[in-house]
Amino acid sequence: MLDSTGDSMSHVVHLVVGARPNQMKAAPLLKLLRLSEEFDPILVDTGQHYDHEMAGIFFEQFGMGSPGVSLKVGSASHGKQTAQILEQYEEVLLEQQPSAVIVIGDVNSTVACSLAAAKLQIPTVHLEAGLRSNDRTMPEELNRIVTDHLCDLLWTPSPDGDKNLIAEGICDSKIVRVGNIMIDTLVQMEPLFSHRKMKEELNIRADHIVVTFHRPSNVDSFETLEKILVQVAEISKKYTIVWPMHPRTKNKINEHGLNNLIRAPNICVVQPLGYVEFMSLVSSSVGVITDSGGVQEETTYLGIPCLTVRPNTERPITITEGTNRLISLSEIEASVLTLEEEPSKHSEIEFWDGLTAERCVESLKSLLV
Ligand code: UD1
Ligand code: UDP
Repeated sequence: MLDSTGDSMSHVVHLVVGARPNQMKAAPLLKLLRLSEEFDPILVDTGQHYDHEMAGIFFEQFGMGSPGVSLKVGSASHGKQTAQILEQYEEVLLEQQPSAVIVIGDVNSTVACSLAAAKLQIPTVHLEAGLRSNDRTMPEELNRIVTDHLCDLLWTPSPDGDKNLIAEGICDSKIVRVGNIMIDTLVQMEPLFSHRKMKEELNIRADHIVVTFHRPSNVDSFETLEKILVQVAEISKKYTIVWPMHPRTKNKINEHGLNNLIRAPNICVVQPLGYVEFMSLVSSSVGVITDSGGVQEETTYLGIPCLTVRPNTERPITITEGTNRLISLSEIEASVLTLEEEPSKHSEIEFWDGLTAERCVESLKSLLV
């Protein structure tokens, strides 16, 4: 792009984050875009997550600085939250007229911002495109499908992503396999979290298991949540449980009056943790029990066993090539008790190499420069 004097100008590119899992995917790309001469990136934070430990701590730990745009939408129902982001972000787009918008992952902020940009004919890019659980009861699955069909450029992490998009009739020319950007962050942060002694800081002497739950299907109903908590209490007789608790889960435990089930001596419930603290605990654990998307990938990279309490995953490569296993709600306790019998596994997956952000920047140049 040239200015009125014929000198080359950099392209303003919006990089949108909203919820916790967006931050670790945005950080390495933001860093490289800032270093490039061709692009002038602006970090846009919708404020879908807003507690310091769900948002601000990651801007700090990843050195992202403060967002250039903060919408501060906060929590609301799906319709209301998505609509508020759409309305507010459209105004920002009209004012700033970026050359492109990059959205990430599968949260409400992702679909709302891609819709706002696509309607204004602004080139829109989806980082982590093509993932499918084929489970339309998950809000994220609907966000993924809509976002992928709105975007002009689809950056996929793995071959299954490409196949899913082609099966939905999306043109091959829009798809670029860039790899898994989460691993860029993991590789960059590993020196920090491998030296952080969180286990000692929490005064944990026994072998420990890390637990995270936040999917509505697991934590919203009394019956399901109670089943999880009862089994975690049983497991705590053998292993120390460290549970950095997501605010949705904490609220539901309070609402359903289930706090007594987590008051066991070996259950250490803590606030949601920063990335360095969380990964220090994961990397030193016997295994993880989770329903998180990102944690399935991080444990695979680290070779740590991961029990995912879900009927499906949009990240099948973590099962076929990694350490992830899908288990049902009633299998949690039994699965943990056989965890140490599993052979250790460390796989090298194509494009899980710490260079995904570089491939994204090259692809963006092909689109805009
Ligand atoms: C959202 C994403 C989900 C992602 C998860 C990552 C959608 C539809 N869901 O789920 O895909 O896996 O983030 O963590 O986009 N809350 C706070 N403080 C915060 C944020 C949330 O207290 O900073 C509480 C509020 O009570 C809120 C609830 O958590 O109502 C749920 O937040 P919300 O963003 O709606 O969904 P998540 O369950 O966090
Ligand atoms: N994470 C973190 N602190 C925590 C729990 C998770 O830093 O207390 C990180 C984790 O390492 C992963 C990301 O948050 O990179 C996953 O976010 P989450 O599970 O909230 O969302 P999902 O991936 O399921 O969409």
